Amino acid sequence: MTACLARDWFFRLFGAGGSPADPEPVFTGAQDIDVLLAFSQTFHPRTVVEIGIQRGTTAQAILARAPWISSYIGVDITPESLPTLAVQHDEVPARAGELVASDPRVTVRVSPQGSRDLGSDDLPPADLIFIDGDHSEAGVLYDTELARRIVRPGGIICWHDYGNSLVPAVTQVIDGLNQVEGDHICLVEGTVVCFEIRRQLT
Ligand SMILES: C[S@@+](CC[C@H](N)C(=O)[O-])C[C@H]1O[C@@H](n2cnc3c(N)ncnc32)[C@H](O)[C@@H]1O
Repeated sequence: MTACLARDWFFRLFGAGGSPADPEPVFTGAQDIDVLLAFSQTFHPRTVVEIGIQRGTTAQAILARAPWISSYIGVDITPESLPTLAVQHDEVPARAGELVASDPRVTVRVSPQGSRDLGSDDLPPADLIFIDGDHSEAGVLYDTELARRIVRPGGIICWHDYGNSLVPAVTQVIDGLNQVEGDHICLVEGTVVCFEIRRQLT
């Protein structure tokens, strides 16, 4: 069982999230976006990576409120590729990141296996990473490992869909990591977003 941080405490610690996206993004609820916005507004990330950018609704909500972001990298699979989980088959976008394609800060990396085609040398060091791609066990483990390799000290990794019964592997992987590693990953109450802050190296 993963530790849960009360919602009001989260926003007291990390600041307000700002106005929820309008219209509300399809895959990521306003309460989830608020967590990402709070991290953005408090820590002013320069480089953000979103694994599973889909059409870019969350990216659009974040970028519209974050002039400090200089580079936003979205990763996804090619339209003809099939995600690992059948429940995700309808999620593959015809054009990944299309909603933010005109923003010069955005780079979209699309390939048949998405993030699995990328190693840590293919992505820049990042201040904020949002993992929302392949929700299978192997997919979440791969993306977690990849994110931990590229996150800057003091940077933040967020996982979407903790507690979503349609994709139970997300919860299982995070609970398993916490059991082995000692509860470094925390859920924000009332959301399906978990986060981990990478420690500063001394
Ligand atoms: C739930 S949707 C993401 C929603 C998006 N993050 C948002 O907030 O609007 C999941 C996305 O992950 C993508 N995906 C599936 N497998 C992937 C992989 N191996 N690497 C990267 N993206 C993947 C899907 O094509 C889909 O666009």
